[in-house]
Amino acid sequence: MRLVATKYLQPGMTLHKAVTNDKDQVLLNEGVPLTNRMILRLQELGITFVYIADSRTSDIKSKNTVSDQTQKQAIRTIESNFKEIKDGKNINYASILQQSTKGFRSVVQSILSELKGSKELLSLLSEVMIYDHYIFSHSFNVTLYSLSIGMELKLKEKQLEVLGLGAMLHDVGKMMISTDILMKPGRLTEEEFTEMKKHTVYGYKLIKDLPNVSLLSAHCALQHHERLDGSGYPRAIKGPDIHLFGKILAVADVFDAVTSNRSYRPAMLPHEGLEMLYSGSGKHFDADIIKAFRKSIVIYPEGLSVTFHDGRSGVVIRQNPGFCDRPVIRILEKNDQPIENPYEVDLSKELDMMIVKCSTTVGEDMQKQKETTV
Ligand SMILES: [Fe+2]
Repeated sequence: MRLVATKYLQPGMTLHKAVTNDKDQVLLNEGVPLTNRMILRLQELGITFVYIADSRTSDIKSKNTVSDQTQKQAIRTIESNFKEIKDGKNINYASILQQSTKGFRSVVQSILSELKGSKELLSLLSEVMIYDHYIFSHSFNVTLYSLSIGMELKLKEKQLEVLGLGAMLHDVGKMMISTDILMKPGRLTEEEFTEMKKHTVYGYKLIKDLPNVSLLSAHCALQHHERLDGSGYPRAIKGPDIHLFGKILAVADVFDAVTSNRSYRPAMLPHEGLEMLYSGSGKHFDADIIKAFRKSIVIYPEGLSVTFHDGRSGVVIRQNPGFCDRPVIRILEKNDQPIENPYEVDLSKELDMMIVKCSTTVGEDMQKQKETTV
C-alpha cells in the first residue's frame, strides 16, 4: 500500500482499507476500482490522504497503536456526553458532567492500557473513519498524544489518569459557545474570537467542581492555549507559571489541529506538523516536550514516498522502534525511473542517507506531486 493524497488519486486505483463512518457504515469499500465520482466523494468528505493498494508494496501494513474498537468507544463516549452538555443549555452542566465522568475515566483507562501494551509508535491517525464533528475526534487524538508524551516523560499512573481526563475534556467549554461561532466557516470577527477564547475558562469552571476529579484536569482546559512567551490566552501567563500538563496539552492540541483536515486547509503530514512545532520551540512550546513527543510518534508513516539526496526514492515499509526518524525504506526508483530489483534500506544503519523530499503521490503523476522539503 502507498499513502496517496486524495487530490492525486486516479480512476482505477483501489483503496487498501474501506472508509467507514462512526456508525460502522461503509462509505467506500476496499479493493473496488475508484471512479471519478468516488474520488470526488473522498475529497468532499474532507479526506486528505488514503491508503492505496499497490503491487510493489502490497506487503506493507500500518499498525494501529490503539484498536479501532477503543477509538470508536472513546469517540462515542465523548460525543454523547458533549452533546448532552450542549443540549442541556442553562440547566446544570456540572451534574451532567458528573454522571459522565465515570465513562470518560474508563475510556482513559482503556487507552492507557492499550498504549502501555503496545510497542508501536503512534501512527498517523487514519482517516478511514469519518466523524460528524471535528471536536470529538480531536478530543480523542489529543488524549492519545498527551498520554504518549506523559508516558515518555515517565509520569506516574495517577498523573497519567489526571492528564488523560484533562486532555479528553480540554475543549468541553466549547459546548457552551454558540453554534454560530463554533461552526462558522469563515474567519471569526474580533468579538467572536474573544467569545471563542472563553472556552478555556468555561471548561475550567465545569471541571473544577466535579467530585473526585483533580483540579489539575481542570487546569488542562484552562491552560491549553497558553504559550511560553505569554502570547497565549486566557491569562497570558508565561512558561514558569504554566503547569507541565498545560504545556503537554499545547503540543498535543496544535499537532492534532495541523495534521487534521479542516475546511480551510488540508492536513499536514507528521514531519510537517513536527517542523511547525519546532519552529515555535522555546517560544510557544516547551522543547523537552516536543522532544518527548517526537520519540513517541511515527514521523514517516508506512506507505509514504520518500526521495533521498542521491536521487533514489522509495516507500516507507516499516518503523524502527527507538529510531523514530530512521524507518526502513523499499527503494523502487532512481532518478524517477523504476529499478528492476527493488531492495530495502534500513535508515537506522545507513546514517548517511538523507531524506530530501516526502510525497503523497505515485507513478506518472510524479511531476505534479505535492512535495515538501524536509
Ligand atoms: Fe481549545
